Amino acid sequence: MCGIIGIISTNGNVSRMLRESLKRLEYRGYDSAGIATIANGIIFVKKDKGKIDEIHRMLNFDSLPGNIGIGHTRWATHGQPSRENAHPHLDCSGMIAVVHNGIIENYLELREELSKLGHTFRSETDTEVIPHLIEEFLKSNKSLEEAVRQALLKVKGSFAIAVISSKEPDKIICARKESPLLIGIGNSQMFCASDIPAILPYTRNIIVLDDMEMAVLTPNSVTIRRIDTGEIVNKDIIQVSWSPEEAEKGGFPHFMLKEIHEQPRAIRDTLRVDEKALEIFVQKILTADKIYFVAAGTSYHAALAAKYMLAKLAGLGSDAIIASEFEEQFPGDSSGDSVLIAISQSGETADTLVASRIAKNAGVCVLAIVNVVGSSLTRLADHVLYTRAGPEIGVAATKTFTTQLTLLSMIAAKAARENGMIDLDEYIRLNTELNEMPRKVRDVIERIEIKVKQLSKHLANCRNAFYLGRGISTATALEGALKMKEIAYIHAEGYPAGESKHGPIALVEPGFPCIFVAPPDSTYHSIIGNVTEMKARGAEIIVLTSKSCDDVIKNANTALILPEVHPILSPIPYIVPLQLLAYYTAVERGYDPDRPRNLAKSVTVQ
Ligand code: G6P
Repeated sequence: MCGIIGIISTNGNVSRMLRESLKRLEYRGYDSAGIATIANGIIFVKKDKGKIDEIHRMLNFDSLPGNIGIGHTRWATHGQPSRENAHPHLDCSGMIAVVHNGIIENYLELREELSKLGHTFRSETDTEVIPHLIEEFLKSNKSLEEAVRQALLKVKGSFAIAVISSKEPDKIICARKESPLLIGIGNSQMFCASDIPAILPYTRNIIVLDDMEMAVLTPNSVTIRRIDTGEIVNKDIIQVSWSPEEAEKGGFPHFMLKEIHEQPRAIRDTLRVDEKALEIFVQKILTADKIYFVAAGTSYHAALAAKYMLAKLAGLGSDAIIASEFEEQFPGDSSGDSVLIAISQSGETADTLVASRIAKNAGVCVLAIVNVVGSSLTRLADHVLYTRAGPEIGVAATKTFTTQLTLLSMIAAKAARENGMIDLDEYIRLNTELNEMPRKVRDVIERIEIKVKQLSKHLANCRNAFYLGRGISTATALEGALKMKEIAYIHAEGYPAGESKHGPIALVEPGFPCIFVAPPDSTYHSIIGNVTEMKARGAEIIVLTSKSCDDVIKNANTALILPEVHPILSPIPYIVPLQLLAYYTAVERGYDPDRPRNLAKSVTVQ
């Protein structure tokens, strides 16, 4: 997730406006930033790694000349944060500058093709192929607009881009597919931006571009076309009434709710995995003598789910260990063939770093699943796979959990296929279902949010709750309970449902909320017994299940119906109602879910 901005004006210099707009997009990424402007037929660029203010102090963005320019704030996906990898990116001639948010999937192919044609690349980014492609199409006397259109027809993946050229310095070309982009219509000024907050001080009149649309902006006009056909599209202008603070949260009252709603996008981006790194992970796992997962907090719950995934699908045993406990459980690596998979959103959690270092020093191969590119864990690990959730601001992890699960299920599926534990049909089914997951998660949110909000009014008055599941749903139950305790401050206990009769059931009295995570998998018949045990003691039964599961539905006071998915994928849609439940319960109790007491987003002490 990155932020882009473009401004063209008749009212003088735009560099300061570009910088201030980028500041308002910094929540979308903050590892590097840059601005390009045009004056006197020359493109000027200032960019570097670091936060916008830091770079500004060093380079003074405001001194860039010209009344047209583009800017970018980066959240690295390809290549470490560095000056070379920061946007804008230029073509060989230095006459075309591009900023991009998204992922170009076929960039390696395109890079090779373009290199053969004599193009020189200066960064490791996927984005850099775009200015070179445009440069290539401009050679056949096309207009800038047509060259951009042709270039975009060649790229696969997602993009929101803004392009300027010193040869046609009177326009900005922008376009989108899957990444957000809107146009702002000002007074003799035109804008394009990833999000509304960027342009709110200048205009409230916007046009939202749809997928596969591109626009040519001049200070006083906007022309929108379809990228595929080149046809002109007429679109309505929308008036935005949000305050700047509301706009930063995308109109949501809290970042946590915004991030819950962002999950379809985050999962879709994560599915665009680095295939080579995925294959390395799978090979290391398949040849390992011993497999450890280590993580903390929510990431530990993803690790626990992964342990079930590997066992059920690939027939592989593993250990999921809480990072701070690893040292006391790790027997060393006598065979020299162990692998440790460290999972961390931030890549900075001290406990996870320490565990990984201990393993590494013992000769274990360390694989990392991380959201923040360039973080400490990525530097320590032998190989890294990235979740592409974008920056997560809410302290309680939401979109980073479902994206971790997405990657882990891809790893398990590929390992199971390669060691022959699943046939091609099942492998195809898993991949098809993963590709449908963004839509399914969106449907879950749309269908269930109001019902969960009503349920939260009741839960807000409870002092305790049990979250119970069996098999992989134990991980979902633990994560649901963690969300409830960390932001709504209700004592919520996640437990394996089968184990609940060995102690926890003693707490149950009439009205005690028991939330069962009960998808229709191999544990379903056993969990029916656990539901009736709790019901017999007067518990209030809330079930998350699928529509075919009559036996649990008929025993429930409330049933939340979720889509039927492959058993190893169920934690992804099933956690969403539990995230929403914790969120609405916290709000109902008058707490700020974005700032839970005593907690930090990234815990860098042991
Ligand atoms: C903190 C956060 C949790 C997070 C945990 C692990 O406790 O409050 O939300 O799950 O750290 O963080 P990591 O960045 O390693 O995933």
